Amino acid sequence: MKVLVVGSGGREHALVWRLRQSPSVSHVYCSPGNAGIAQQAELVSLNATDIDGLVAFATQERIDLTVVGPEQPLVMGIVDRFAAAGLTIFGPTQAAARLEGSKAFAKEFMQRHNIPTPRYKTFRKNQRDAAVRFIDGAAPPLVVKADGLAAGKGVLICETREDANAAVRGMLQGNAFGAAGQTVVVEEFLHGEEVSVLIITDGTRAVPLPPAQDHKRALDDDRGKNTGGMGAYAPAPVVDDALLNRIHREIIEPTLAGMRAEGSPYRGCLYCGLMVTDSGPKVLEYNCRFGDPEAQVVVPLLDGDFARLLLSAAQGALDESAYALRDGSAVCIVLASAGYPDEYTTGKRISGLDSLPPGVVAFHAGTKRSGNDILTAGGRVLGMTAVGDGKDLASTIEIAYDAVGMIAFEGMQYRRDIGRKALRRLHAPSTQ
Ligand code: AMP
Ligand code: GLY
Repeated sequence: MKVLVVGSGGREHALVWRLRQSPSVSHVYCSPGNAGIAQQAELVSLNATDIDGLVAFATQERIDLTVVGPEQPLVMGIVDRFAAAGLTIFGPTQAAARLEGSKAFAKEFMQRHNIPTPRYKTFRKNQRDAAVRFIDGAAPPLVVKADGLAAGKGVLICETREDANAAVRGMLQGNAFGAAGQTVVVEEFLHGEEVSVLIITDGTRAVPLPPAQDHKRALDDDRGKNTGGMGAYAPAPVVDDALLNRIHREIIEPTLAGMRAEGSPYRGCLYCGLMVTDSGPKVLEYNCRFGDPEAQVVVPLLDGDFARLLLSAAQGALDESAYALRDGSAVCIVLASAGYPDEYTTGKRISGLDSLPPGVVAFHAGTKRSGNDILTAGGRVLGMTAVGDGKDLASTIEIAYDAVGMIAFEGMQYRRDIGRKALRRLHAPSTQ
């Protein structure tokens, strides 16, 4: 089959790389892609949000399966548009993508279906006074969230009521987050360990990907600013089999059943961003797509014909025979440009990409080619990913950092502690 991947980051590189290994795939296109993806797919120069252009391209090239990476086109309704044109596409419809596109929708949905999530209240533009009264009666810290997509920047953790009030004021009165901030969610702050649980579903049946952990802050020990994600590993030992079963029972199954009951069955990859608390797992957010960098570590751990798995989910008849998990672990360390996540430098020559050892892949996030050189072209530049077949996490982490040592570009920054939380947990004396 001919496959089109939409997007241009590390997640899309991992999808392309894995789809290329599927026996059922004859050709992979990626739109718009990047310098690394260009080594494995034919690039198409259309933006991920150019839905008209993408429908026209997929129709003309008779694409059998389109896989969408980022959230914007999904929330804009790319899946509905492809379906209307008779094209098969992996991802949720616009109505189902509201689980990510509107935090107010997601919270109200979870309340309707008894899905565990932090306590909250939603306020619209004309309800600022009610928000102030609510915050005055609540115990800080509080979390203030813009309703719509805000490229990962719409969540403010407020230590004091004053900060929470200022955050709400900024969103509802000012224009800090544009249309995305016209409605806000204020919720209780939860303590615990975060984990990302992703599934692939046809709306009814689902197969799980190994639980993964992202590292959102820029600096070691979870200090510094929030970023798109500085690294990930899977499987995350914070989720054992018993907890995974509980997550399925209390979160995933009710989410899929709730979406079906409300007339918008969810097909595609559903990402549950969870906090594992003393009283069980709770949903902090849903995403309507693979995570980035989580995709770089969960997709390589899938065995079987990946394209067939996604195609069958998109067609509403999940083929579980195309699903198996590999025994082992995967670790991705993001190499970022100087300055990231604030203003960053680009155009720096990257060295060392040609001599990586087996078991390591450099997924490109923000790169471009210039003659024979690969240059940095984004905040997150590369995801150095080690896939340790049958290996434990400690050795996989070591392989990934050895590979990082081979790469250089001016101003390169990365975290030195990816996976450390897991090692601490694995080596802690059992409390059971
Ligand atoms: P979200 O986009 O809703 O996942 O929020 C981004 C990040 O903010 C999460 O990954 C958490 O680290 C943090 N966060 C969001 N909501 C909460 C909460 N209720 N309690 C504690 N941390 C939170
Ligand atoms: N890694 C977080 C996300 O993809 O949203």
